[in-house]
Amino acid sequence: MEQDIQKILIPEEEIKKRVKELGKRISEDYKDKFPHLICILKGATIFLSDLIREVNIHMSLDFMGVSSYGSSTESSGILKITKDIDQPIEGRNVLIVEDIVDTGLTLSYLRKLLTSRKPKSLKTCALLNKKVRRKVDVPVEYYGFEIPDEFVVGYGLDFNEKYRNLPYISVLKPEVYMYEVMKYEKE
Ligand code: IMP
Ligand code: MG
Repeated sequence: MEQDIQKILIPEEEIKKRVKELGKRISEDYKDKFPHLICILKGATIFLSDLIREVNIHMSLDFMGVSSYGSSTESSGILKITKDIDQPIEGRNVLIVEDIVDTGLTLSYLRKLLTSRKPKSLKTCALLNKKVRRKVDVPVEYYGFEIPDEFVVGYGLDFNEKYRNLPYISVLKPEVYMYEVMKYEKE
């Protein structure tokens, strides 16, 4: 697996430090607000599990699965809910936990859907923010790192379901993407 990596963009220690800071801010901002965190599957699970252990106030947790139609590196904006949340969010202070906001299409769709269920407040915490790729203007109240226009993997983020288990954020060698695309086209 590691031979596929071209470069490490954000090392483990840096992620750890930043996640700690985010947890501290969320703990302060949501003090006495009993936030309800909604983790977007599957990419945000690693971030979520580290983040909530840095949150020292009462909170609750739910999960939502979305899949976007389109290629593996490009979001189409057409989304399918593969798993809905289990608990009602009406009147709750909801915080969406995402791995990355790229074009913003996924988050914008999710925000509309969740807003219709009348939460008291709705904010987002994303590990990564690719501002240069934005197609729709969508608020991201908390984020770990702004990154350049590169497709990244690791710390929950995948390429064709692989590399989620890397402990850092990295960029794959171009031939790895090419090889997967060729394989895909043959199938
Ligand atoms: P958006 O709708 O374009 O903002 O994309 C959101 C989703 O696309 C994320 O939740 C990721 O699953 C995926 N995605 C976008 N950029 C990357 C990347 O660089 N690496 C891995 N997944 C990505
Ligand atoms: Mg993905």
